[in-house]
Amino acid sequence: MTEHTAQDPAASSAAITFPEGFLWGASTASFQIEGSTTADGRTASIWDTLCGKPGAVANGDTGDPAADHYRRVSEDVALMADLGLATYRFSVAWPRVRPDGGPVNQRGLDFYQGLVDELLERDIVPWITLYHWDLPQALEERGGWTNRDTAYRFAEYADTVLTALGDRVPFWTTLNEPFCAAFLGYASGEHAPGRTEPDAAVAAAHHLLVAHGLGTALIRARRPDVKLGITLNPAPIVPADPADPVDVAAAQRVDLVRNRVFLDPLFRGEYPEDAHTQFDQFGFSELVRDGDLKLISQPIDLLGVNFYHDEVVSGHGGTEPPSAGGRPTPLVGAAPFSNPQRDLPRTAMGWPVDPRGLTDLLLRLHREYPGVPLYITENGAAYPDTVGEDGQIHDEDRTRYLDGHLRAAHAAIEQGVDLRGYCCWSLLDNFEWAWGYDQRFGVVHVDYKTQERTVKDSGKFFARVIEANGIPGSSD
Ligand code: FCB
Repeated sequence: MTEHTAQDPAASSAAITFPEGFLWGASTASFQIEGSTTADGRTASIWDTLCGKPGAVANGDTGDPAADHYRRVSEDVALMADLGLATYRFSVAWPRVRPDGGPVNQRGLDFYQGLVDELLERDIVPWITLYHWDLPQALEERGGWTNRDTAYRFAEYADTVLTALGDRVPFWTTLNEPFCAAFLGYASGEHAPGRTEPDAAVAAAHHLLVAHGLGTALIRARRPDVKLGITLNPAPIVPADPADPVDVAAAQRVDLVRNRVFLDPLFRGEYPEDAHTQFDQFGFSELVRDGDLKLISQPIDLLGVNFYHDEVVSGHGGTEPPSAGGRPTPLVGAAPFSNPQRDLPRTAMGWPVDPRGLTDLLLRLHREYPGVPLYITENGAAYPDTVGEDGQIHDEDRTRYLDGHLRAAHAAIEQGVDLRGYCCWSLLDNFEWAWGYDQRFGVVHVDYKTQERTVKDSGKFFARVIEANGIPGSSD
């Protein structure tokens, strides 16, 4: 749990400089940008299937055409170079390289070979995420992440990608946000595969961690030279009244699901005690086999942190709050709790904006899980952008969001946090999961009719930050 102690970084306009060698980049994910969902042997992922379910995704949007990145790689890599990115974090689509979770599909691998070639030609460091949620549908039909076998299929798939790209890609993350994959996928059903079974969610969380462990062991054994880790989306969970034991207990229950059920096994080699008390009604303890925790807690080189917003939790206010769209809460076993409204600006997603949360989160990770270098692997905001008469996107709100969060990250470094890089979310506007194309997170605008790309003002701001390795003062 966290309490806000940080100063409001958004209040400042002083120049700041990041440590030398700080790694600047932008992130994307395969299903969100690639399109071409049936090209070159790719078969369905759980997201293709969810998109086909009436009402599951806004406007009935699908993964096609997305940002048509599959066919526009060269143009997009040129854009990255123009922005000055030092790294590009992207995910590989499992159903392209092992369609249906079966044998290797060389044509799918060729796409990523080409992407990596183009990045290296432009001196952009490729950073691979192996799993950003597009599980082959055929594996879901065998139970998906509720089936322990999926973790072994993941290791096979990781082996395939490593064999193809291990000599040229220095950064590898096994999973992106297992919290969302497990709890939004299997408990609230907002994400694919759209299941609403708390016991399935708990099993998925453990098996995702086993997959991380198997992938880590394999990558380590075969390529000890690469930097290897996992990306989580830990969130500061703040009790509404830190002096009220009911609020504190509710915040602890939420914190377990959002944070500790992943962080503790990864960095302490054990599940926290309350994982057993809170999850045992859903069959948790029987899932954990001898040796699993050793596998999961193998040392890693970095923790990727995706940060969007914090969460204030009260134990009062009665019932379990439904998540968006009247779905069950993803926060398995955490009821009763509520999220009191706060007087804060909000993004188009309805997410509160309070950059202090990022400083507090980084400080907490540093304090409670010390010794692992941190990278912000995603941070950004959706706003309802409009293209001005001048053809440009003057997205002051997003620029302000980035400015405040960069200052918040910098404040954490000044307090001793070993933060080594920052990737914004996202390079391009893209398919925002259940929100379809309604929510735009890019620092580059995509016109979905023409696929024309236009760097937004926030993208120009980010390019200046990269060039200066910090935020120049207002008079610089
Ligand atoms: C994160 C996801 C990313 C994107 C952002 C807005 O949870 O990792 O794919 O959807 O949220």
